[in-house]
Amino acid sequence: MTENVYFQDGQIGRADREKLNGHKSAALWFTGLSGAGKTTVAHNLEKRLAGMGCKIYVLDGDNVRHGLCKDLGFSDIDRVENIRRVGEVAKLFVDAGTVVLCSFISPFRSDREKVRELFEEGDFLEVYCTASLDVCEDRDVKGLYKRARSGEIPNFTGIDSPYEAPENPEIKLDTTQELDACVDEMVALLKGRGIIE
Ligand code: PPS
Ligand code: ADP
Ligand code: MG
Repeated sequence: MTENVYFQDGQIGRADREKLNGHKSAALWFTGLSGAGKTTVAHNLEKRLAGMGCKIYVLDGDNVRHGLCKDLGFSDIDRVENIRRVGEVAKLFVDAGTVVLCSFISPFRSDREKVRELFEEGDFLEVYCTASLDVCEDRDVKGLYKRARSGEIPNFTGIDSPYEAPENPEIKLDTTQELDACVDEMVALLKGRGIIE
């Protein structure tokens, strides 16, 4: 549908914005089961990075589904569209010179790979929050597993909807360890990749 539509370049580009912000931009893609710790790590990392002067934003499934994606549910086809849209938004944030933290179950490997393909090498870092189904169900932060087990919530990830674990994520984050250790690991990853100093 891009016939008769021409890309418009501005006079200020990503490199200019990165220079203004004092760090490189990147998309960190947190994937994992419900309750694995995606939101908690993303928000705590956001706080840590903000304290270091970084320009940062969190895109979270629970939040995006109240606006941009409020027309979508949890069928496979809706999840595919959810991740496609958010991938495109993340790409805009990277062009804006920011570090964007995306916390989505994103259960399908092919969708995460499609998002990766939107980015230049090194701009997209997949973060697999590895907490197991047992751990997540035990946590049951929002009581959703209990409701899914009773049949009240259909297509629940890990129960009657699949989760395809990443094969080659940039980092496997053990989200059963102390939260601060997870945040430390993420800061080290960003420093090691030269995204922040
Ligand atoms: S997805 O699969 O990436 O499109 O999902 P996402 O946008 O991350 O939204 C996941 C949050 O929606 C709540 N929720 C469900 N999750 C999984 N399966 C079903 N059926 C479902 N229904 C509602 C839940 O709060 C998820 O948030 P997290 O943070 O993962 O617990
Ligand atoms: P998700 O967004 O993946 O559904 P949440 O962040 O909402 O997960 O929930 C994770 C739960 O696990 C929270 O109650 C959090 O306090 C707890 N938790 C314990 N250890 C960790 C850790 N290392 N990283 C993230 N969350 C943790
Ligand atoms: Mg969450």
